[in-house]
Amino acid sequence: MKTYILATQNRDKIKEFKNKLGAAICLKTLDDYPNIPDVLEDGTTLEENALKKAREINAFTGLPAIADDTGLEVDALDGAPGVYSSRFAGESASYQDNVIKLLNELKGLKMEQRSARFRTSIAFVDSREAWSVHGSVEGFILEHPKGEDGFGYDPVFYYEPLQKTFSELDLDTKNTISHRGKAIDAFIHKLKELNQI
Ligand code: IMP
Repeated sequence: MKTYILATQNRDKIKEFKNKLGAAICLKTLDDYPNIPDVLEDGTTLEENALKKAREINAFTGLPAIADDTGLEVDALDGAPGVYSSRFAGESASYQDNVIKLLNELKGLKMEQRSARFRTSIAFVDSREAWSVHGSVEGFILEHPKGEDGFGYDPVFYYEPLQKTFSELDLDTKNTISHRGKAIDAFIHKLKELNQI
């Protein structure tokens, strides 16, 4: 089985990737490389950031690298926080700080004015090639968090077809319908096309 490195230490992302990719490939993560330098995410798009992370981690480890960058686009905020989703409430903001800022910015808006989407870009870089795939999902930002699971903005991201927030979904269900789940499906499809798995 071929070994790849997933360019993240985020436990929640690792869980979602392993849930879909676990059986097909051997997946290392940045936890296996504790001395690896941080990659500065200074791109202006999700795709740019994902490709940059994958390039730098491939160069450092020599392994085919997979990197994900995700953003939440809120229509009432002209697409913000987008590429700045992790730092919406400041450089060292927690998930909760970001959610509180988001809810404050949307205060007073009706449900139909609270439309949003998650977008994920997944990049692949090895010694021969670099490419990326994408996934997105539409939803609405609730006025109050709901549910226990997931991470980031999941407690306020309401997925209308199931009438639940992403935090009320189990891992398999979130991974079937989510931005990242769809991007991982496209990623597996492309690896198969290229005879990499
Ligand atoms: P990242 O730069 O790809 O790590 O993602 C930016 C921010 O988006 C994270 O800090 C989280 O707050 C949020 N995020 C990423 N993926 C998800 C998800 O699947 N659900 C909810 N929030 C997410």
